[in-house]
Amino acid sequence: MCLTHSDQALMATAAPQPRPGILKIEPYVPGESRLPTGLKPIKLSSNETPLGPSPKAVAAFKSTAGELERYPDGASTALHAAIAARYGLNAKRIVCGAGSDELLSLLAHAYLGAGDEAIFTEHGFLLYRIIILTNGATPVVAPETELRTDVGAILKRVSERTKVVFLANPNNPTGTYISFDEVRALREGLPGHVLLVLDAAYAEYVRRNDYEAGIELVATTTNTVMTRTFSKIHGLAALRLGWAYCPQAVADVLNRIRGPFNVSAPAMAAGMAAMEDTEHVEAAAKHNERWLPWLAAEIEKLGLKVTPSVANFVLVHFGEEGAAAADDFLKARAIIVRRVGAYGLPHALRITVGTESDNRAVVAALADFCKGAVA
Ligand SMILES: Cc1ncc(COP(=O)(O)O)c(C=O)c1O
Repeated sequence: MCLTHSDQALMATAAPQPRPGILKIEPYVPGESRLPTGLKPIKLSSNETPLGPSPKAVAAFKSTAGELERYPDGASTALHAAIAARYGLNAKRIVCGAGSDELLSLLAHAYLGAGDEAIFTEHGFLLYRIIILTNGATPVVAPETELRTDVGAILKRVSERTKVVFLANPNNPTGTYISFDEVRALREGLPGHVLLVLDAAYAEYVRRNDYEAGIELVATTTNTVMTRTFSKIHGLAALRLGWAYCPQAVADVLNRIRGPFNVSAPAMAAGMAAMEDTEHVEAAAKHNERWLPWLAAEIEKLGLKVTPSVANFVLVHFGEEGAAAADDFLKARAIIVRRVGAYGLPHALRITVGTESDNRAVVAALADFCKGAVA
């Protein structure tokens, strides 16, 4: 190859460039977990379960320690069978991943490219924007009505370029949900080639008769996917395990592009044991059923507005500047909650339902904060 002087100059100075769109991404900032003081905090910032994982899941995790030199089963066969048996699904249409994050990313990677659009809601889960931009596609935001998904607003934003709609139901960080009838209306209003991704990370917490996580629509349509996680009610966030229930053609696509061993053996073992321990899952759901309304009601008694939530967290609204001041106040009491300015909610904080003592501590601290704010 014969290089000119200008080629040589370019080679000396040019830096590698990522694909268009990547530099528009604001990196995801997870809920904080440490205090500057080094004190052990009450951590209510990442919607983790206060009950921890099932002891049976921990035992299953430990039981894999003797074989860490072995690759895991790349097809996650036993885990697929366990999920299929638990929910009455077709195992061939399940795809597992390193958290539902990975599955959402793979879906974006497979179905989005330059020139395409993907829709999500105004205060939808932050990852959606990241994975859309990563693949060179254009994020399209559908406004919500009173912090709730507005199906009409999503449908209005569909164009011939729309390829995917990402919908967290219930949504994080609002905690609101839409009924199965509304989800069905969304599906019916979308063109057939648009993939509807129902992200049901908090499904196990929902206690509403009109809610359905997505299994029904995946079973009856060819263009709907549901994602689930072991990070929330099952308490296995550290292990990174999620699953998607897909039309066969979509499962086949994901299986072509996922890493051949994308789920670790300890995650598979713990996930199966966690799912089988239905008593533990039920205890976690009951705990939430007891403390979610308590937390919301006690915070409202302080004069703060709380968005009605069906998940394991509440969104609390403060006045101008109030959220940052409240966050600092809580931190000084070693309580970490989640700022949600990145979600377009700079005046709100998201607070995860914790243990009884965590919940009482956060309410007591907010009461003192409000007294101070009034005084
Ligand atoms: C709505 C929603 N979807 C997906 C996820 C990702 O979960 P995972 O830990 O399975 O990657 C989260 C995590 O906070 C979430 O809130």
